[in-house]
Amino acid sequence: MAFPAEPMNFETILVENRDSIALVTLNRPDKLNAMSMMLKAEVIRALQELDKDENTRAIVITGAGPKAFTAGADIYEFHDRTPIEQWRMYEHGTLYDAVDRVSKPILAMINGYCFGGGLELAMACDLRIASDRATLGQTEINIGIIPGGGGSQRLPRLVGLGNALRLTLTGDRIDAAEAVRIGLVDEVVPHARLEQRTFEIATKIVRHSPLAVRLAKAAVRASARLPLDQGLRYEQGLFALVMASADKEEGVKAFLEKREPKWSDR
Ligand code: COA
Repeated sequence: MAFPAEPMNFETILVENRDSIALVTLNRPDKLNAMSMMLKAEVIRALQELDKDENTRAIVITGAGPKAFTAGADIYEFHDRTPIEQWRMYEHGTLYDAVDRVSKPILAMINGYCFGGGLELAMACDLRIASDRATLGQTEINIGIIPGGGGSQRLPRLVGLGNALRLTLTGDRIDAAEAVRIGLVDEVVPHARLEQRTFEIATKIVRHSPLAVRLAKAAVRASARLPLDQGLRYEQGLFALVMASADKEEGVKAFLEKREPKWSDR
């Protein structure tokens, strides 16, 4: 199947494939890549297509321009939004739900400002690699609202209750060095090396069996929503499933024959 499976035409994002790693770029640099309704809908559509596309093994999300990953939800659109409209958006499924549902590894490449909904987007991803120029914050409180894209739940899971409350209640912006110290991002790299390092990690992941990668991701992510006993059972179910895979046969055989495996994603 050619990439993309269907031609994907977007106005507010860019999508490209680099050796089976899809790069999704939020592309409103003059607005610091603020996430309008259209941008969110386009990212949702892109993620759904990329998750289905067999030439895509991992997804990287970043922001266009020199300043921002994204400065969060488009504040201009908050003006006239009614509670019913907001509820309707939740009923249709949010961007954060869409990221959460992606079965393939998805990395946030945080190239600059990462605030409010932007931080929630990054937190919904599997890994967060940040430029040393990045600034991050759960900043909704500064405009009289609260996190609505999962921030109140994902932030404490990453950084603990105290740090989550500090960031959410003060609305402070922190630099990348502090973000990595408290576990909000996984790695900080010099700005010039951000893309290289992010793709290095993604490439390492996509060299493994795609099926094993997806099952491993599903098992680890389940730990955030299941009690331990259920999580352990879930892991066992997936482990039993992977025992039936051609990739397990190939992986074991290649090890015994001292050669590189050839994965089939089955
Ligand atoms: N929604 C909509 N537009 C936004 C935006 C947002 N979240 N963040 C920035 N922009 C727009 C600005 O309105 C401005 O547009 P304009 O040139 O047409 O006026 C443009 O992006 C550049 O922003 P500016 O504020 O001039 O850049 P800066 O470098 O001086 O400041 C920030 C950058 C990120 C500190 C500042 O824009 C900011 O605080 N943004 C809001 C961040 C936030 O709280 N996000 C969470 C929302 S829930």
